[in-house]
Amino acid sequence: MTKKTILTGDRTTGPLHLGHYAGSLRNRLSFQETHNQFLLLADMQALTDNAHDIRKVRRSVLQVAIDYLAVGIDPEKTSICLQSHLPALGELSMLYLNFVSLARLERNPTIKDEIRSRGFGRSIPAGFACYPAAQAADITAFKAEVVPVGEDQAPILEQTNELARKINAAAGREVLPVAKAIIPSAGRMPGIDGRAKMSKSGGNSIPLSASRRELKAAVNAMYTDENHLQVSDPGKVEGNVVFTFLDAFDPDKATIDDLKAHYRRGGLGDGMLKKRLLGILEDLLGPVRERRAELEKDPDFVRDVIREGTARAREVTQRTRDEVFEAIGMFAL
Ligand code: TRP
Repeated sequence: MTKKTILTGDRTTGPLHLGHYAGSLRNRLSFQETHNQFLLLADMQALTDNAHDIRKVRRSVLQVAIDYLAVGIDPEKTSICLQSHLPALGELSMLYLNFVSLARLERNPTIKDEIRSRGFGRSIPAGFACYPAAQAADITAFKAEVVPVGEDQAPILEQTNELARKINAAAGREVLPVAKAIIPSAGRMPGIDGRAKMSKSGGNSIPLSASRRELKAAVNAMYTDENHLQVSDPGKVEGNVVFTFLDAFDPDKATIDDLKAHYRRGGLGDGMLKKRLLGILEDLLGPVRERRAELEKDPDFVRDVIREGTARAREVTQRTRDEVFEAIGMFAL
């Protein structure tokens, strides 16, 4: 049986953090064993709201690739590819933009939320408003059948499938498969300050590259329960960042349940919990940090990995591009 194709990607806007690990990197490690996996370094999509800082977008390409390799993505099993070097994606994007209205793009809940939260108003970059069509191009160009994305990206997948159906209708046959979104069960990791989302720009993230000292400082700064002033006080588990992280990373569920009960009753201090969490995170990030340091010393190797992955991706995406243009009846030369 041939393996199903799976595509995910990250905007290259900065190094990845523990939220990425819990929500997606971890799953990609198992997917590479069972699927034909492509990881897209989405530097073009990064530009849609970072055109003022191309330097950051460029530098992040190697950083994100290093993060992938350091956590255990195997370039023999997974193709790591660079979006801006896959011209078929841009060509399909331009095509798809003719199959979607501006109104529909603006109505996309993900886009709507982001326009609101960033206060773009009418000065929204056109590329940003159009990114659902561009992401549809990414996904369909690989003929990805499985697309693991965060919950906030579900409407983008819906719109991708809407476009795939329109192209299939224009072609009169099924050129493009419909993609299935997989939303990770781990959910989104909160920031260390307790805010809903961990993000570098929010200043509440723990980068995968964190040194031992940085890791310790971050765990010590984690929000727990502001009313848990004395060890003997009963404490709250819900919304307590330390417990959220223990749930995500501590394999010993039975002990965590006991600790939760003890914390709720009172008599369990934050310090003990934080020490436990620090040990677990250090076990996870220690080896990542070491591999990261080695890869940092060998950027040519990382570049080669991206080059090879991109070459593989170019073949696949170019083939789809040709097939789609022909199928809908564009002039063939
Ligand atoms: N929009 C995705 C994100 O912000 C990144 C991305 C770009 C992507 N192209 C993709 C994800 C294709 C899945 C498939 O996380």
